[in-house]
Amino acid sequence: MRVQNVPDPTIQDPTDIVIRVTSTGLCGSDLHLYEVLAPFMEPGDIVGHEPMGVVEEVGSAISHLDVGDRVVIPFNVSCGHCWMCTNRLQSQCETTQNHEWGTGASLLGYSKLYGQVPGGQAEYLRVPHADFGAVKVPNGPPDDRYLFLSDVLPTAWQGVEYADVPEGGTLLVLGAGPIGDMASRVALHRGLRVLVADLVPERLQRVAGRGAEAIDITDLGDASLAEVVRDRTDGRGPDSVLEAVGMEAHGSGGIKAVQKLVGLLPDKLAEPLMLKAGTDRLEALLSAFDCVRRGGTVSISGVYGGAADPLPMFQMFDKQVQVRMGQANVRTWTDDILQLLNRDEDVLGVETFATHHVSLDEAPDAYETFQKKQDGAVKIVFRP
Ligand SMILES: NC(=O)c1ccc[n+]([C@@H]2O[C@H](COP(=O)([O-])OP(=O)(O)OC[C@H]3O[C@@H](n4cnc5c(N)ncnc54)[C@H](O)[C@@H]3O)[C@@H](O)[C@H]2O)c1
Ligand SMILES: [Zn+2]
Ligand SMILES: [Zn+2]
Repeated sequence: MRVQNVPDPTIQDPTDIVIRVTSTGLCGSDLHLYEVLAPFMEPGDIVGHEPMGVVEEVGSAISHLDVGDRVVIPFNVSCGHCWMCTNRLQSQCETTQNHEWGTGASLLGYSKLYGQVPGGQAEYLRVPHADFGAVKVPNGPPDDRYLFLSDVLPTAWQGVEYADVPEGGTLLVLGAGPIGDMASRVALHRGLRVLVADLVPERLQRVAGRGAEAIDITDLGDASLAEVVRDRTDGRGPDSVLEAVGMEAHGSGGIKAVQKLVGLLPDKLAEPLMLKAGTDRLEALLSAFDCVRRGGTVSISGVYGGAADPLPMFQMFDKQVQVRMGQANVRTWTDDILQLLNRDEDVLGVETFATHHVSLDEAPDAYETFQKKQDGAVKIVFRP
């Protein structure tokens, strides 16, 4: 990861805009590019998919935005008018799907697997399909009031929607990173009982401070997480589990070694191996199936990339587990979330959500700090 000067982006299509980026987030998804997905990265790829800023230039087909408007940019690059987009599945947009790699809609700054679109950890950004994507937000409040509309908020929101918790029910959130933390805030706001499991003490303290019941997975004694959680839920388990960890979960030592080895191969060898035979670190996902009550729902927000992951089908079938997952369909949720953000009160605590604000020059160090979970880093925001 390095900071480099590149030519400023320009309008290429009538539906483009160019923005001057004022704030731009660092995400757990960026860490996958930094580690296990690194074989798909090419020198010069610009990363980052959580930007907001000020419109500098608009293409001829843009009618809802003017130069000077304040906008947040969703991480999905989606057209808004194909079959998938009109069915609220923008992460599967048929205009920007990537047939070469068999992947869904393009994403900002997410390697050739997702369209190799130059990303938003930059001073300026070309926004393709801005006629549909760019979300106009009011002037006045600080950037952090709106910034998380680009990814964290809609991802957390969709994760809770997909978890389908019955009214007054219990949700177990695995992972207290930005996504798990925000999902637990959304669920608490909806009046649910929320348990959160992680292994980083400061992260657990943060969610506990907002009313979730925190569980340290390194402090379970001889019990499994499922046993501990069942004890707290009438012996039955939570109605739903939201998995907000992903493929780099703590715990599966053997797989981690294989992922590292694949990462060391030349890209030409590593790519087919990962796409056809790759496996994930499944610790968190397996504990989701183990913890959820019979007939409950597992909602997977964490990103997985394996092609040959062994799953406990007997347990999943016998327990009648329902499963939903996928990249967030950002624009499906932004209007509802924006209404909440526009209240005077900061209901979800977004303005104090980021733990670090740093300049772009500090990006290489910030990636390392976030990956190693040092210095209390939960959410890092760059201010270009
Ligand atoms: N679906 C989407 O659209 C979408 C969008 C954004 C992020 N994500 C994914 O969500 C996941 C979380 O993102 P983040 O930004 O919060 O990242 P993060 O890496 O900071 O958070 C992961 C958390 O999981 C914890 N963890 C690790 N192993 C665990 C285990 N076995 N049990 C419980 N907790 C464990 C870690 O300590 C960490 O706090 C990532 O996989 C990211 O790619 C998905
Ligand atoms: Zn993100
Ligand atoms: Zn589309």
